[in-house]
Amino acid sequence: MPETSPKGLTRLAFGGDYNPEQWPESVWQEDVRLMREAGVTMVSAGIFSWALLEPSPGVYDFGWLDRLLDLLHENGIRVDLGTPTVVPPVWFYRAHPDALPVTAEGMRHEFGSRGAICHSNADYRAAAANITTKLAERYGAHPALAMWHVHNEYGVPVSACYCDSCAAHFRRWLASTYGTVDAVNEAWGTAFWGQRYGGFEDINPPRLSPTVGNPAQALDYKRFADATMRENFVMERDILHRLAPGIPVTTNFMTALSQCDSVDYWAWGREVDIVTNDHYLITDGRRTHVNLAMAADLTRSVAGGAPWILLEHSTSGVNWQPRNPAKAPGQMARNSLAHVARGSEGAMFFQWRQSRRGAEKFHSSMLPHGGTHTRVWREVVELGASLDSLSTIRGTRTEADVAVLWDWHSWWAQSLDWRPSEDHDARERADAFYETLYDRHLTVDFAHPEADLSRYPLVVVPALYLMTEAAGTNVREYVENGGTLVVSYFSGIVDEHDAVHEGAYPGPLRDVLGLTVEEFSPLLKDQSVRLTGADGSELSGDVWTEFVVPRGAETVWTYADGLTAGHPAVTRHRFGQGSAWYVSTRLGAEGLDALLGWATDDAGITPRADLPRDVEVVRRTGESGTYLFAINHTGSDAKVPLEASGTELLTGERAAGRLEIPAGAVRVVRLDG
Ligand code: GLA
Ligand code: ZN
Repeated sequence: MPETSPKGLTRLAFGGDYNPEQWPESVWQEDVRLMREAGVTMVSAGIFSWALLEPSPGVYDFGWLDRLLDLLHENGIRVDLGTPTVVPPVWFYRAHPDALPVTAEGMRHEFGSRGAICHSNADYRAAAANITTKLAERYGAHPALAMWHVHNEYGVPVSACYCDSCAAHFRRWLASTYGTVDAVNEAWGTAFWGQRYGGFEDINPPRLSPTVGNPAQALDYKRFADATMRENFVMERDILHRLAPGIPVTTNFMTALSQCDSVDYWAWGREVDIVTNDHYLITDGRRTHVNLAMAADLTRSVAGGAPWILLEHSTSGVNWQPRNPAKAPGQMARNSLAHVARGSEGAMFFQWRQSRRGAEKFHSSMLPHGGTHTRVWREVVELGASLDSLSTIRGTRTEADVAVLWDWHSWWAQSLDWRPSEDHDARERADAFYETLYDRHLTVDFAHPEADLSRYPLVVVPALYLMTEAAGTNVREYVENGGTLVVSYFSGIVDEHDAVHEGAYPGPLRDVLGLTVEEFSPLLKDQSVRLTGADGSELSGDVWTEFVVPRGAETVWTYADGLTAGHPAVTRHRFGQGSAWYVSTRLGAEGLDALLGWATDDAGITPRADLPRDVEVVRRTGESGTYLFAINHTGSDAKVPLEASGTELLTGERAAGRLEIPAGAVRVVRLDG
């Protein structure tokens, strides 16, 4: 069994990406002095250092990294050591120009940025294996080494390559997945538009084409590209396991749905020893703390509920969005501790010292251009102390109340061209349902559609266009056995090959929902429909409507106007010991809240009306006790009831009855008992 926590790390992880090669070595002394002042426990180093470590083919310069690791070790700072395989040196590309990836339009990328990699390229694979081996041999037993950081954020900035090596590799992948070309023809439905293939050698990646290509081919190409990156991760991981036993291996994920859409993190979660995640606030006017909570819950879920580590976030503004506001005072701590509440064993940043040169010089860091006489630095030092006082939570697990089904394959399929409406966005529905659950103070686990759901009283399916028969059986059994299910429209439509399930929509969900959908009728931009409830109450929906025919389900809300007037908009079906809700239009916040209110009643979940909006309350529990996190995202002081007395760890004060949380503050109570 590989180790699943950073070796030798006895506190929460606190630190950041450390790129000291951008500075003269004299600066390193100041770096470690300030790291100690801030309470840094771990740094990630060497992620982009291949060109320095191997300045020409087969010539290595490890001296600087030896000195760096020794210095960090002398100062008690653990190291998450990168394999630098996300940026091969220029000499490599000049010798192997075909290792540069090619777009679907046939354009080859150039050296001079980062992440320009064709993952099928044999020369790249050999060179990556070689530098990984050299690093593992040299540092596998170094006392500073806590964890390996393979590559960087697989899936961005290039999610797939369309070159000839990839074409050949895709054919091999198809042959091993399907066995025969006839099986590919069948799965892809190539009878349509005369796309039949006579042999594997005729198949190419879905390159530039006059109009929409074969959707099943496009979906398989996404699976192939993801699997190919994973092959390279596994190759490096196995070298590291072999040469450095006892050191866990990770690669930093980006689970936020808006930040990386090309990686199936369910599959990756099974391959890493520790799940680690990078998260950046998307400042698009929405509530960033909700987006953060969702990413953290998704990260914990791909880790199977086990502790994970936030490996990167920002102390303040980033530099790659159209507008990059600074974080408000206290926001960095709220962000960091919100990740910890949801299972992270610490909070790390990109990056330690702000770069003076290069593409990221306007990205905030722990040690800003302005040095230590800055608000950011003072808050960094304060956060280090806060995290230090939370050391005993290591190993505890976040408690979830409900599950939301999520599947990257379904999202990929759903996002292909020529769907009934471009306004329907699976991610938007996932965000909206999540936000409603967040506002009801329910902690969410995400679950794969085929996972065991029996421990959840409520399971929400925001938009799961692609569902296998097995997934259908899974949710059917879940409801039969007493679960409460909520399904949003355009779910259960196609199988794993993007082929519509036989019979009426929604194939594998018809019997559990007790209805069929005869036709979709998406709305035009800015159109909406009115819905009426049995009690005369009114709501509205937009984007989507459907002609729903109840076949056992009761109608709860009805379309009052539009093409579908008179048809059910929201239904409920008692099935076995449980109940299944269906909503066939896009409800706004008010409608979703009403729907989830009824469903939580069915599920026997007690509403948390005692908790103010935007005061986040999450529990971690384990051998060392139960910890209640209360994060006040509002500008006013708030109170949260405590079920037991305890000790507030950030202030050291005793807490009982009602816990006071000043505006913008965080409190963590270790409950007695
Ligand atoms: C990513 C990368 C880092 C850095 C940050 C900036 O997470 O891993 O190297 O570019 O983004 O936000
Ligand atoms: Zn390629």
